[in-house]
Amino acid sequence: MTSFGTVDLTVYPYECDAYGHLNQAALLTLLERARWDALARGPGMDLFDRNGVWPAVRKATIEYRAPAFARDLLRVETTVAGRGTTSMTLRHVVRRVSDDATVAEADIVFVCIDRLGRATPIPEEIARFLGPRTPVGGGHQPIRVPAGDVELAVDVRGEGVPVLFVHGFPFDRTVWRHQLAALSRVRRIAPDLRGVGGSGAPPGADGYSLTRYADDLVAVLDALGVRQAVVCGLSMGGYVTFELLRRHPARVKALILADTKPQADSVEAKRGRDELTQVAQREGQDAVIERLLPRLLAPETLATQPEVAAQVREMAGRWSAPGLVGALGMLRDRPDSTETLRGVRMPTLVLVGSEDEIAPPDTARAMAQLIPAAEYHVVPAAGHIAPLEQPLATSRLLADFLRGLP
Ligand code: MLT
Repeated sequence: MTSFGTVDLTVYPYECDAYGHLNQAALLTLLERARWDALARGPGMDLFDRNGVWPAVRKATIEYRAPAFARDLLRVETTVAGRGTTSMTLRHVVRRVSDDATVAEADIVFVCIDRLGRATPIPEEIARFLGPRTPVGGGHQPIRVPAGDVELAVDVRGEGVPVLFVHGFPFDRTVWRHQLAALSRVRRIAPDLRGVGGSGAPPGADGYSLTRYADDLVAVLDALGVRQAVVCGLSMGGYVTFELLRRHPARVKALILADTKPQADSVEAKRGRDELTQVAQREGQDAVIERLLPRLLAPETLATQPEVAAQVREMAGRWSAPGLVGALGMLRDRPDSTETLRGVRMPTLVLVGSEDEIAPPDTARAMAQLIPAAEYHVVPAAGHIAPLEQPLATSRLLADFLRGLP
């Protein structure tokens, strides 16, 4: 969505620090100038004023990627990354025109407030300018891929090294939405697993074995003509990736393991899966996610990013009942994958949220130590869903890793 135009701005000497770099405060001002310029060229700088509201910044996340200097011409692209009833997220990508280097990426969350400072629904004229509310998957229509007894919905974007994104439980392919938008130099392939979202759901629990999940990934690669892919698994997506390594090692070029672990369930954890299965059968997805949510997200995410919790609830709501029960059975019975990982000899990135309770940093570090060529990174202020809780930091780790692949 590109309601905001692209704006070119020159860095002035007075915006630079003692070393000649564009300073951080000036970058924020520059982004603000870009937004005003885009409004001036479009609906007018008084768009908010004439509607009796004001966009108040609630949160700004910035990744500084490269220095910029006085006289550099910077191109600021602004897109509407998300829109709720009262809030919107704008994403800025700042590139230097001379060498196309990415200088910074920023996500800025605004809440629409009235003259008394109360959050208020975005008025219609502004909503029209921003474009439709962010649809599932950022508006990308998935393709449909036959896989054994089901058809899978697969989001496929871009060109370059194929990267297969495998979501966790109980999420769907949109858990990767920030990475699917940001990693523009690779071919991004993100299926909904069987039983989830736009994919088919076999009725019986035997339709959801680890083998089937892994073979589905191969069906996706075959359908797209991909011989080998970088496979990026989040939590349960990691468990499926371990099975893929056992069954189809030649299809994996490199590994990204996010918020996952090789250990099988303990006796107590197995009991927890059985209890959750009963909750799923008796009360449905909503009850399941309410039980899981406090352990999935970092306390900081729960306190400051209600939109992330809302997305997790939405993703869980897109699981079919058999898909939920089938996955819980698979999770309970999955094997230990320590030996599988010991045999891995490919480039591997292990990343984990600093507050992940389900696959904690110590466990993730020990997992990385099993693999000779593994890099290990902790994503600060993230729980078990780093790609969604800290999207810029996670995307940057992925981009750096992918750039370094032979
Ligand atoms: C997941 O995120 O996929 C689950 O937390 C995995 C698990 O419960 O073991």
